[in-house]
Amino acid sequence: MNGGKILVTGGAGYIGSHTATELLDAGHEVVVFDNFANSSRAAADALQVAANRDVAVVEGDVRDADALRRVFRGHDIRAVCHFAAKKAVAESFEQPLSYHDNNVVGTLRLVEQMAAHGVKTLVFSSSATVYGYPVSVPITENMPLAPINPYGRTKLACERLLGDLALSDAEWRISILRYFNPIGAHCSGLLGDSPQGVPTNLMPYIGAVAAGRLPRLRVFGDDYPTPDGTCIRDYIHVVDLAKGHLKALQWLAAAPGLAIHNLGTGAGHSVFEVARAFEEASGRSVPYDVAPRRPGDTPVLYADPSRAAAELEWRAEHGLRRMCEDAWRHVAASAA
Ligand code: NAD
Ligand code: WQD
Repeated sequence: MNGGKILVTGGAGYIGSHTATELLDAGHEVVVFDNFANSSRAAADALQVAANRDVAVVEGDVRDADALRRVFRGHDIRAVCHFAAKKAVAESFEQPLSYHDNNVVGTLRLVEQMAAHGVKTLVFSSSATVYGYPVSVPITENMPLAPINPYGRTKLACERLLGDLALSDAEWRISILRYFNPIGAHCSGLLGDSPQGVPTNLMPYIGAVAAGRLPRLRVFGDDYPTPDGTCIRDYIHVVDLAKGHLKALQWLAAAPGLAIHNLGTGAGHSVFEVARAFEEASGRSVPYDVAPRRPGDTPVLYADPSRAAAELEWRAEHGLRRMCEDAWRHVAASAA
């Protein structure tokens, strides 16, 4: 790939910090841009320790055109990985305008500044949430897009915006990656999913229970039409996911236009399976109560990742056991 740095928006966050670390490990220069709304400067420091490299860290908001302009003027940026977004489904129902402002306006401002500075290579963090309730599983990229929450609709709005941009100008190289359920952590324990407040996602909640910070897991429904009655998801190790971004950048170097890829393992695990695997990996118990179903949950979701395998030459390598071991290492290190 040509020289120049990669701008990682949201680079202090969970997936962004892991991707920045993988980029650094592969020899790329990285600029982290984050407003720390859901992360911290300490997380940006930790990724530099994990990668054993210094990184330019810029505090700023992707909706702030001046802040972006300064970054593009101050650094030789050749590509952008755009992670910066709000991602809490329940909160997005309460604050739809804030979600559309942050996620959609943020993406719009970013691509405006990219265009103004002649940077036309972008990897965008989308989500399996754009599929809503899928017509069948495994989910392929061609299936209907019908998100069922405001967060998902912001992701779909960004996808549409990027699609129109690619149609308007053949110089753009845009990779849309639809992530399934990223969990796990960097093997150092330095990086991981450390949401502020009470976790809403399964894995950080289980970690908090295992660490004794929360009393019991609430399993949202054990009467689904699945083998053990709990929902099934395609959990993917965050480092595998991060590596997918490097593959996407390689793909874009050879392929102008817009490409869409699912990043998942292609296999599903139930809530009970995840809790049990975490108990085995951590040696701690994860007591639980069965609670009512959570509105909006669909019984079974998993990816067909074959397009990413064929085109990006990417495959998830780590299984559930390893995801739990690495997540636990991060939880234990954070508590120490
Ligand atoms: P995260 O909250 O840990 O990271 C997002 C980062 O972006 C945070 O550091 C936050 O401070 C920053 N940020 C938010 N708004 C910003 C703004 N306006 N300007 C600058 N920085 C801003 O979330 P994550 O799990 O790492 O998710 C990264 C991306 O992946 C998001 O776009 C998310 O929608 C997408 N995604 C996440 C998941 C998941 O389950 N974690 C699944 C699918 C897609
Ligand atoms: C997984 C399973 C819950 C918490 C979400 C977003 C999606 C994407 C990934 C960003 C479900 C159950 C959970 C708990 C539980 N994010 N659960 N008790 O809902 O598949 O996907 O994160 O794009 O858009 O919707 O992930 O981790 O919240 O839940 O029983 O305390 O665990 O019901 O079956 P989900 P999750």
